Amino acid sequence: MLRTLVQLLGDDAPTFRRYAWMAVAYGVLCGLTITALIPVLTHLLGGEVKEAVPWLAVLLIGVAVCWSWRRYVEQAGVRVGVAILQGARHRLGDHVARLPVGWFTPQNTARLGHVVTQGMMAVAQLPAHVFTPVIAGVVTPAVLVAALFALHWPLGLIALTALPLLAGVLAFTARLSRQADDAFHQHFADASQRVVEFAQAQSVLRAFNGEGGGTRLLEQAIEQQHQSGTRLIWQSAGSAVLNAWAVQAVFAIMLMTAALWMNNYLGGQMVARDLIAIIVALLLVGRFIDSLLEVAGYGEVLRGARGQLDAIRELFAVQPQPEPDEPQTPRDGSIELRDVHFRYTAEEPDVLHGVSLRIAPGSMTALIGESGSGKTTLARLIARFFDVSAGSVLVGGVDVRQMSSAQLAGQISQIFQDNYLFSGSIADNIRLGKPDASDAQLRQAVRQAGVDEIIARLPQGLDTTVGEGGARLSGGERQRIAIARALIKNAPILLVDEATAALDAENQAVIAQALTRLRGQRTLVVIAHQLSTVAMADQIVVLEGGEIVEQGTPTQLRESQGRYAGFLNQRRAAKGWRITSAASDGARV
Ligand SMILES: Nc1ncnc2c1ncn2[C@@H]1O[C@H](COP(=O)(O)OP(=O)(O)O)[C@@H](O)[C@H]1O
Ligand SMILES: [Mg+2]
Repeated sequence: MLRTLVQLLGDDAPTFRRYAWMAVAYGVLCGLTITALIPVLTHLLGGEVKEAVPWLAVLLIGVAVCWSWRRYVEQAGVRVGVAILQGARHRLGDHVARLPVGWFTPQNTARLGHVVTQGMMAVAQLPAHVFTPVIAGVVTPAVLVAALFALHWPLGLIALTALPLLAGVLAFTARLSRQADDAFHQHFADASQRVVEFAQAQSVLRAFNGEGGGTRLLEQAIEQQHQSGTRLIWQSAGSAVLNAWAVQAVFAIMLMTAALWMNNYLGGQMVARDLIAIIVALLLVGRFIDSLLEVAGYGEVLRGARGQLDAIRELFAVQPQPEPDEPQTPRDGSIELRDVHFRYTAEEPDVLHGVSLRIAPGSMTALIGESGSGKTTLARLIARFFDVSAGSVLVGGVDVRQMSSAQLAGQISQIFQDNYLFSGSIADNIRLGKPDASDAQLRQAVRQAGVDEIIARLPQGLDTTVGEGGARLSGGERQRIAIARALIKNAPILLVDEATAALDAENQAVIAQALTRLRGQRTLVVIAHQLSTVAMADQIVVLEGGEIVEQGTPTQLRESQGRYAGFLNQRRAAKGWRITSAASDGARV
């Protein structure tokens, strides 16, 4: 837990260390101040008022110093919190910025958002509000142990043994609660998913009169959630009770020891001095137990904080893409894949099995194949969304891992399915592709991507701001702005995923026109769904199950009567075949 915090703080770690030492010093100071009670009370109860006075002064000074030192420690804790919020967010940002583009799935993005907002906030509050009382609550009793030893060694011994035992009990109850917590969250997620399923399946359920199936699963999930929720409540209540019990058991044992101690004298010659020692010892025992009870009370809070820190640690554990020490410059717009194998995670099987492919600069390649055959994965590997599991990807004759990310980004523009718009104006969003673009270049890209039709209906034209994520534009409109962004970039390579569902007919036409215009000028790699696009290509690559099963010019493949020819026949038969657009593009397939 502390290690994650120090890692999170990076250069600010000394701030935390200073704070931690100050908190420890505070605990020691409190312990010593309480210990000063021994001489004060011993002298006072013994009637030696004169001797008590200097100790009383020490006690008063101790209390005053403790009190002001505590403010000081809390301020230091707040400084650590501020360092976490300022520095650690940047550090996390820097780390995340170096992660593979492919890491940014919706789930990971959601987790990141949660960590940056709630997680960091919770962690930033820890030093001032939780660590200070907990550290003091552990250090003060440790000092009191020494004092107890001095007064009566059996009491000291009990106190000394009690500390690790209590720590064990705390750790044990924390683990129990964490398990219950995990189970509850799991069942909660299950139940939520079932509710959504149930709602989505309503038409089916009603059509079939809704007996059995859907409701049974839903009821099971809710019942499970109910059970684990109840268990969680019992478990955390039980943990709190157990923690308090453990502390109180120690208290009881210490009281009994004190009673025995007193009993020894009951026979007769008990002197006032011994009685005073016992009273003072009981007072110290009370303070000892109070501190420990306070620590026990923070158990649940610490457990929650630990969960947040774990989430942060997991984020930092994701490996960034290594950058080369001596980046090499790509020579041209060629692309080559050499025996590429790729899997998304170590547990899953390969999705690409030994793909080798050469794409000449300025040529056009169409990737085709059934859904799930690996087309998108292949295009992502060229843009280094991920690193290959084996083999290599070369762009301009250089392994993409030997280029700086800026150099690779300069080589490639892309039109992919998930195009993101940033808050800002439409013009800003397009210029993102080429920040130094002239107005003429901007206008050209706007025209070529069909964005002029969008801005014609907007009073502020290109200066219209798009909402967060482009919420005020339709999906097709967002896509066109992204196309304009890719076109203005003018990189030697253009990767296009002609996403089926996300792309409307007009945008398909816009992309087709752009491809026709750019053909021969840039290296085009297109995941093609339109026959007209496929027919335009210099080279067609057919993927199946993560392997290239056919490759050649459209004419070669048509004549070889292989899969591409079969694909053509299928499309001809399908009523979705756009024979008109194919013909208007001058393509014959
Ligand atoms: N982010 C991902 N994590 C894990 N598996 C994935 C991911 N994306 C795609 N896959 C899997 O990789 C295989 C190829 O997918 P993909 O490249 O999207 O194929 P295509 O674009 O040809 O439809 C599929 O089996 C798919 O389930
Ligand atoms: Mg795909």
